[in-house]
Amino acid sequence: MTQTAPSPAHPVQQRYADPATEIPAQWNPVLEVLHAHKSVRRYLSDPVSPETIRLLVSSYVGFVDAALAAQNAVVAAESLGLGTVYIGALRNDPEAVAAELNLPDHVFAVFGLVVGHPDPAEGTKVKPRLPQTAVLHHETYDLSAQREPVAEYEQRIGEIYTDQGLPFSWTERTLARLASAASLNGRHRLRESLAARGFQLR
Ligand SMILES: Cc1cc2nc3c(=O)[nH]c(=O)nc-3n(C[C@H](O)[C@H](O)[C@H](O)COP(=O)(O)O)c2cc1C
Repeated sequence: MTQTAPSPAHPVQQRYADPATEIPAQWNPVLEVLHAHKSVRRYLSDPVSPETIRLLVSSYVGFVDAALAAQNAVVAAESLGLGTVYIGALRNDPEAVAAELNLPDHVFAVFGLVVGHPDPAEGTKVKPRLPQTAVLHHETYDLSAQREPVAEYEQRIGEIYTDQGLPFSWTERTLARLASAASLNGRHRLRESLAARGFQLR
């Protein structure tokens, strides 16, 4: 699927507004779209088809720029056959991470992102997501509509957990992660850690 891009005004150079920017050795249509992204703030009144909305909504992955940038990096990396994993565990000990990365004040590592060539021996599988009926709401938030699809998801993911020898259900695992300060693995100090980095939170 990859192809070499020959153009003089390459999308990467346009993206960074710099003709000296190095053109990647590999290129494909996904990277083309990612590099062409621009916020659109004026729209026609023509409705977007429900099918297209489903596609757009399924790609909403975060609300902060770091998450958006990282997710685009994930799509770009995976389009090139690379593997990725987010590392939220960086927030377990932000001071140590800041020291390791030599971060100046007012800079905080939100998460890490590992990028590399997947080891075929690992045999990772696609992990099912909560169904759209559980997470997609129209106009108003509908808690009751979530119950059934979440219960079905619990059943589906439970089979995968059983295959993997994991003892707890998805709900139990999710709750356990937030149960106590100890289960937050250091993240209960997040406000303190941010203050130490120079973020004056109120
Ligand atoms: C913000 C964030 C932080 C994460 N932190 C970690 C982490 O510290 N360690 C890890 O192994 N996976 C981490 N993950 C990966 C999730 O466990 C993974 O995305 C989730 O289980 C879904 O699996 P999938 O990405 O294979 O579909 C993180 C994911 C996100 C979005």
